[in-house]
Amino acid sequence: MDPLHNPFSPGASSPPPELAGRTRILEQARITLGRIKAGRPERSQLLIGLRGVGKTVLLNKIREIAESMGYKPVFIDAHENKPLAALLLLPLRQLLISLDRMSRA
Ligand SMILES: Nc1ncnc2c1ncn2[C@@H]1O[C@H](COP(=O)(O)OP(=O)(O)OP(=O)(O)O)[C@@H](O)[C@H]1O
Ligand SMILES: [Mg+2]
Repeated sequence: MDPLHNPFSPGASSPPPELAGRTRILEQARITLGRIKAGRPERSQLLIGLRGVGKTVLLNKIREIAESMGYKPVFIDAHENKPLAALLLLPLRQLLISLDRMSRA
């Protein structure tokens, strides 16, 4: 195959040319985000799967969708030995600073 047009994009978290078979999950993400924005109750989404099935790529896509809907997503890498509060501290602080900058502008 012509290497220039080979659709395979190896490497962790690199977006594939086609996010095959994920329409339903992405549609559910749009519904969840839309309902939360409208103040309606909705269950959170959990992406689980074996190594390399595409969790990170999907998560990044859902983050893009959230941004396009006006959300300010925060990406946190969970850590077994760190409490959630400690993990939230820095990204939430950065988010508050950026919101403050926006409101001043
Ligand atoms: N729906 C998809 N269609 C085609 N290729 C995909 C799809 N999802 C992921 N890939 C490809 O699979 C590879 C692995 O994806 P990704 O890093 O998101 O997996 P992961 O589940 O997060 O892996 P890990 O468990 O190691 O963190 C990447 O090269 C990505 O481009
Ligand atoms: Mg991953």
